[in-house]
Amino acid sequence: MKKVRKAVIPVAGMGTRFLPVTKSVPKEMLPIVDIPSLQYIVNEAIESGIEQILFVTSPYKKCIEDFFDRNFELESRLEKSGKIKQLNMVKDISSSCQFFYIRQGEPLGSGHAVKLAKEFIGNEPFAVMYGDDLMKSDVPVLKQLINLYEKYDCNVIGVQKVRHEDVYKYGIIEYENLETKKIKSLVEKPKVEEAPSDNAGVGRYIVKPEIFEELDKLQTGVNGEYQFTDAMISLMKKQDFYACEFMGTYYDIGNQLGYLKANIDFALHREDIKDDLKDYLKKIDV
Ligand code: UTP
Repeated sequence: MKKVRKAVIPVAGMGTRFLPVTKSVPKEMLPIVDIPSLQYIVNEAIESGIEQILFVTSPYKKCIEDFFDRNFELESRLEKSGKIKQLNMVKDISSSCQFFYIRQGEPLGSGHAVKLAKEFIGNEPFAVMYGDDLMKSDVPVLKQLINLYEKYDCNVIGVQKVRHEDVYKYGIIEYENLETKKIKSLVEKPKVEEAPSDNAGVGRYIVKPEIFEELDKLQTGVNGEYQFTDAMISLMKKQDFYACEFMGTYYDIGNQLGYLKANIDFALHREDIKDDLKDYLKKIDV
């Protein structure tokens, strides 16, 4: 069985749910306290054993490339002023993994974005991590998916239970076997009364390279975009997919409430902030 060494992180979306800030700041770079959410996703990949990351980016998101690259001027200023902690912090960002970039000329959908990774991936299984789905967990969520891939030699979808009334926002899992979590199919953004379960795919996937054959044939789907989910649905007819109902919390930081929840939860786990924040939250009269 081939090891999962590479991850594709699509970050070329328009972020229309988060306008106006996303007119000039990528939503993936909005901070969770003081760390861009994308850095958490990259850390999750590295802690899961990923060695190479391809960002599918856009001409309007150059700051992502800058962030994961060296900044010699900043490093030398920090060194001269003796700010060693900060110096190590900025150096670490760029040293822990190999980063690659490809531009998606037009945001035609997540399926179109992943398809651009074909040459980079070659003939091996790989991870897809959505740049606006943030996870908080003890064992990195992607590692949990890789463990399942290694158990069954299969494609894997990271899954969380969502509120029944919210199923219309997600790709919802239809199980073939509830015990083993083998997946029969996926229904993209179903009507609440038609959803086959309350379990949603939430931005973490391990797929085999045959996904590119399905991506090549992909037609536009929901919202007139090429949906990655649709390519997985086609591949499900030929290969096994399992759900990884992972241990951890998922935040959709592409919407305002999910973003605020992530900020509060992550801050409540920061030693330097948590006590003052707790006091403040207790005092707020809502
Ligand atoms: P989303 O659908 O959540 O992102 O895609 P979006 O299109 O930016 O969102 P809204 O609805 O306009 O607010 C999930 C991930 O896939 C990337 C996004 O950047 C996000 O990280 N994506 C989406 C692309 O890279 N290219 C696309 O064409 C679409």
